[in-house]
Amino acid sequence: MRIQGYKMRNLLNCISLMLVALALVVTATPDAHAKKKKIPKKPKYVGSVKCNGSCHDPYYQAWKNTPHGKSFISLKAGEKADAKKAAGLDPEKDYTTDPTCLRCHTTGYKQSGGFKPAGSKSKKGKDTSTAIDPDEPNKEQVGCEMCHAAAGGSQFRVVMKNTKGDFKKADAEKYGLRWDYANVCTRCHMHPQSPHKDEKFDFEGTKGTVHQIDKYFTEDNADQKLEKVKDRAQETAVSQEKALLIEDWEVSDKGKLKFKKGTKPWSTKKKSALYKE
Ligand code: HEC
Ligand code: HEC
Ligand code: HEC
Repeated sequence: MRIQGYKMRNLLNCISLMLVALALVVTATPDAHAKKKKIPKKPKYVGSVKCNGSCHDPYYQAWKNTPHGKSFISLKAGEKADAKKAAGLDPEKDYTTDPTCLRCHTTGYKQSGGFKPAGSKSKKGKDTSTAIDPDEPNKEQVGCEMCHAAAGGSQFRVVMKNTKGDFKKADAEKYGLRWDYANVCTRCHMHPQSPHKDEKFDFEGTKGTVHQIDKYFTEDNADQKLEKVKDRAQETAVSQEKALLIEDWEVSDKGKLKFKKGTKPWSTKKKSALYKE
């Protein structure tokens, strides 16, 4: 009897252990799956608020206080009158819907997911203009994606999320994250279409000022120190060796912005980045 009871208890212990294990597997598995998001097939602009999310708050807060985070405000009537006069522009005019300004002063204008100015409408006449919240600069400014993306951040953002930041430069570069910083500034600075003809641009002298994160860490975002940045600094991305193409564009007589063929840095057909020769 004693032996029997001992065996019985052993068996019960065993069963309860198995049940606990099963419960763990059942609860853990769907969770893990739910967290891995599918990488979107086509890149599109998502906006700086999405990059902030739960990952890049110090970068967002720092950026918000730079000219890039306020670039849309400069297009409003009455703002920056002297700079406008110097560029031969009318200080009293509202430029916030002017295609000749939006390419360089907003995010992803005329590209998938990008900024749409007031008055934009779908074919059915529905208002599709981008909502603007003055407290949360987003697609209406020169956002993160204008410097970090070949064609918008939707794809590599998912890679970053799925890996919780533990990715190689090449992993995210495959989905359009770009590392050719000196080249990307020329999307706007010193661009042949710029009305600011007297511009002087110093990449080396200013690259460190685009988001100085050190003073933007708080109690709430202290866990957002990017541990892997140092490791990645040892790697060389393809775009650091050969720069990506840079969009060339013009505004037609009808006031429409068009990208010139063969100048876009991302091929939607090949689903890959396009480099300069
Ligand atoms: C999408 C266009 C765009 C890109 C790309 C871009 N900038 Fe700018 N940048 C602007 C605009 C527009 C302003 C002016 C914002 C305002 O005050 O309205 C500006 C302003 C600046 C300023 C302050 C004004 C000045 O000339 O001193 C600096 C510095 C600067 N950018 C550096 C950079 C660097 C470095 C890069 C590349 C890593 C870069 N920018 C990429 C559009 C761009
Ligand atoms: C090719 C890109 C490009 C286009 C197009 C462009 N800008 Fe700019 N804009 C810049 C850059 C880069 C700067 C910062 C460097 C500078 O001030 O020269 C800037 C600066 C400015 C500033 C000065 C901001 C400051 O803080 O002093 C104003 C105002 C401005 N732009 C208005 C406009 C308006 C209005 C248009 C359209 C008519 C326009 N821009 C078109 C790239 C562009
Ligand atoms: C005007 C261009 C520009 C804009 C806008 C910009 N960045 Fe950057 N970013 C840079 C440059 C240039 C560097 C490299 C800085 C250096 O080497 O000093 C960088 C570096 C970074 C890094 C470190 C990457 C690594 O692994 O080395 C992160 C993360 C980052 N930026 C996030 C952001 C976020 C988030 C935003 C928007 C809130 C943003 N950036 C907006 C130009 C920009």
